[in-house]
Amino acid sequence: KNSQQVKDDPRNFVKLMNDQNRNELIIFYGSQTGTGEDYAQRLGKECKKRYNIQPMVADIESYDLRYLDTLSKDSIVVFVISTYGEGDPTDSAVEFWELLHRDVPTFSNDCAMENPLGHLRYFIFGLGNRTYEHFNGASIAMDKKLAKLGATRLGELGAGDDDASLEDDFMAWQEQFWPLLSDAMVKSEDGPNNNNEQQQQRAYTVTEKEDDGSFYYMGELGDAQLTTWSAKRPYPAPVDMYDLTPNSRDQRHCLHVQVDLSNSNMSYTTGDHLGIWPTNNELEISLVASLFGWSNERLDKVISVCPTDPTNKPPFPQPTTLRAALRHYLDLAQLPSRSTIETLVPYCSDDKLKSFLQNLIDDKADYKRVVLDAVRNLGQLLSFALLSTGRVSSENALQDIPLNVVLECYSRLQPRYYSISSSSSESATKVTATAVTLQYNPTADRTIYGVNTNYLWAINERLAAAASTTSSAETPKYMIEGPRRQYLDQNTTEPPHFKIPVHLRKSTFRLPASSSTPVIMVGPGTGVAPFRGFIRERVYQKQVLGEQVGTTVLFFGCRRSTEDYLYADEWPELFTALEGDNNASRIITAFSREPGQEGKKVYVQHRLAEHGEEMWDLLANHGAHFYVCGDAKYMAKDVQQAVMDMAQSFGGLTVDGASAFVQTLRKSNRYVEDIWA
Ligand code: 2AM
Repeated sequence: KNSQQVKDDPRNFVKLMNDQNRNELIIFYGSQTGTGEDYAQRLGKECKKRYNIQPMVADIESYDLRYLDTLSKDSIVVFVISTYGEGDPTDSAVEFWELLHRDVPTFSNDCAMENPLGHLRYFIFGLGNRTYEHFNGASIAMDKKLAKLGATRLGELGAGDDDASLEDDFMAWQEQFWPLLSDAMVKSEDGPNNNNEQQQQRAYTVTEKEDDGSFYYMGELGDAQLTTWSAKRPYPAPVDMYDLTPNSRDQRHCLHVQVDLSNSNMSYTTGDHLGIWPTNNELEISLVASLFGWSNERLDKVISVCPTDPTNKPPFPQPTTLRAALRHYLDLAQLPSRSTIETLVPYCSDDKLKSFLQNLIDDKADYKRVVLDAVRNLGQLLSFALLSTGRVSSENALQDIPLNVVLECYSRLQPRYYSISSSSSESATKVTATAVTLQYNPTADRTIYGVNTNYLWAINERLAAAASTTSSAETPKYMIEGPRRQYLDQNTTEPPHFKIPVHLRKSTFRLPASSSTPVIMVGPGTGVAPFRGFIRERVYQKQVLGEQVGTTVLFFGCRRSTEDYLYADEWPELFTALEGDNNASRIITAFSREPGQEGKKVYVQHRLAEHGEEMWDLLANHGAHFYVCGDAKYMAKDVQQAVMDMAQSFGGLTVDGASAFVQTLRKSNRYVEDIWA
């Protein structure tokens, strides 16, 4: 790049920092679900409060990190980095990750230097989950690479654990961060900021506009300039679905969801993930609107939300309406952090309510009980707070809170990911996912409805209602009104054709390169999803491509054979098609709540142990690949233990030998997990 190009490059963050006279500090976040972004913004705000400097808070994907070598030696970088899946970086951090992982990473000066980042001083806080094998793998690897390039880390490598408490880890990490930052920074002359929070600059300004007939967003997603469909521009895909568990005795249903990508030019490989972008529950929207006193008229006004810091991104596409923002763009289900509550408190106009909320900020145990354990989102927390302080309405308490302050309390609504349950060879454009409706009771009197799965269920109900003449008597618990514009196909008379925004995400969950390699798959519940894809792929390899297909064993577990045995009608035909010389290909089931087995539950890992000798033979002598999909917290660990047990019983290995055996399998991609916490 010549110097003019470098100057004009909009992704040159160093230039931007210089132009804006904000050289002290830049905070980069690589965030998947928004938590990392929230943490980065919080550090930025706090920095303003403490030192009266406003650091740039930047999405790591928005800038070119090859300019790191041109940063002034007085500047400091903070990385807030989430780890995803198997120690992977988030999509947004992939570019930086690849730069760091090149044999010789070249930065903007382009000459191979010994320590290209020798002058760089940085902090790093990682967000991860200890349930996974590669806890904080992405932030740890980045830290190592940065050190290798000569950069100096200041302070501890923060390793937040979402399995325990990310928030606590983040607070603890900050205890050493602030003093170290203060020492390291060449402070601006203004000195510490004594402004109180009321005067603190808000993140956004909101302007209401008259609807003059010009375009505004109503749920459309992504950058319309982009010519291909991707996570940055999800595709509105026609969707169809059916209930896989019509006989379920409880409220728990499992949906087979099929999206049609025929006209999208998108392609996937068996084992990939499907991202689905939900719409919020109308009941939650009504709650929030009534709390803050937003009339229907207000909700439908066209608004523009503009970040006060020009380097920040607006919270959703502009312009839009408040109603569309609540429905399609903001994460209403997120549990408010203590600092979110802190944002609201100064604007509450009721003293009792104020002190109730202040107490949650001051008392960690109360915050945990009232917000985290009881799973209360912001709307639910505020209505609980009103009730607890003896108020019947939010009038004169919350209704004067400016809209820009409320918007600051919510992050963007994010897509949910599902393992694809179809085979790309057999079904290249019709992509299926398998999703179980999530609902649970944190306390006896309250039920929480998972956002995306209940959104899908609500669509399913609509599709089913359109197809039948009798309507359901039940009041829905999750309602979608006014789907995203252009996502409900109104040109057809019946039945309603819904479109949902989707995108595809590559995974590393792959069948062996050779179809003759045996596979052992363990997938209880919806963990069976990718294995339906795998098995269909193997049938295709055998029947259509005429390949020799190795032994294919699936361990499946569910509650009852009559209720949640997923795809029960499909397995016989599929396994018959795979039948080989020894008929070893089969499904082995574990029904945990079948009558007559109370007190001694049978799980997939028990079945695995029962067939230990045979499975060991496949693994040790026939090069089988072993796959696990489903719950990360208990099941995946128990299954790994079962494999180590068989290595001891049938392979004669010691405890250490068995564990080394599994590690070797993992390293050579023969023990692969697609698990979630
Ligand atoms: P349960 O709900 O009866 O305890 C799919 O959800 C299946 O996985 C169910 O049969 C469920 O049993 C079972 N399951 C629950 N905990 C498990 C664990 N730790 N390991 C394996 N399977 C488990």
